[in-house]
Amino acid sequence: MTLKKRLEKKFDEEIRFFKGVMRGPKLVGAIVPTSTITARKMASVVNPASGLKVLELGPGTGVITKAILARGLKPQNLVSVEYSEDFHRHLTQTIPGVNFIKGDAFNLGETLGDLAGETFDSVISAVPLLNFPMEARIRLLEDLLDRLPRGRPVVQISYGPVSPIIAKGGSYHIRHLDFIVRNIPPAQLWVYSRP
Ligand SMILES: C[S@@+](CC[C@H](N)C(=O)[O-])C[C@H]1O[C@@H](n2cnc3c(N)ncnc32)[C@H](O)[C@@H]1O
Repeated sequence: MTLKKRLEKKFDEEIRFFKGVMRGPKLVGAIVPTSTITARKMASVVNPASGLKVLELGPGTGVITKAILARGLKPQNLVSVEYSEDFHRHLTQTIPGVNFIKGDAFNLGETLGDLAGETFDSVISAVPLLNFPMEARIRLLEDLLDRLPRGRPVVQISYGPVSPIIAKGGSYHIRHLDFIVRNIPPAQLWVYSRP
């Protein structure tokens, strides 16, 4: 693809993201799509050799989705849950083969349907946790960790200075993965796993 075409595509995605922000600022929770550097860092925890599917939450325009696929994961091994109908439609039209599910990450039992009993390799999440109460964030994390082999990661992007999910009596570890200044706004990456 030529540089001109690439820039046009990036601009198109940013406009699409901006429209999403205008429609549901609390739902989107950021102002522009995640940078490629951040997306790559989040995707770095994925282990395509595990043979397990990967679960993505809040793909938006698909920046992180593409970084996950670039790790060598087969598209049919990626399950990606998006709440917004607009983003979901765009994703299914532009990134073939990925199992994009339109639904609520906070209600995975229902959202995942036939895949509700699946064990995933890892979870890559961009849902705007800070817009939800702490009890809901902890409930989501516990639910996600129950879907992974012990020790495997849930990666979460967030824009505050501290982990968006507080520590809770040893049922999971919290690790700071990275602080990425080349992101708008600068992003903190957190990893949660069962000890
Ligand atoms: C900060 S944006 C991230 C978008 C994209 N992954 C990126 O990094 O540019 C948050 C995304 O989470 C989606 N989202 C918000 N609440 C959600 C929920 N309960 N379930 C699934 N997706 C949700 C929004 O529609 C939006 O696409």
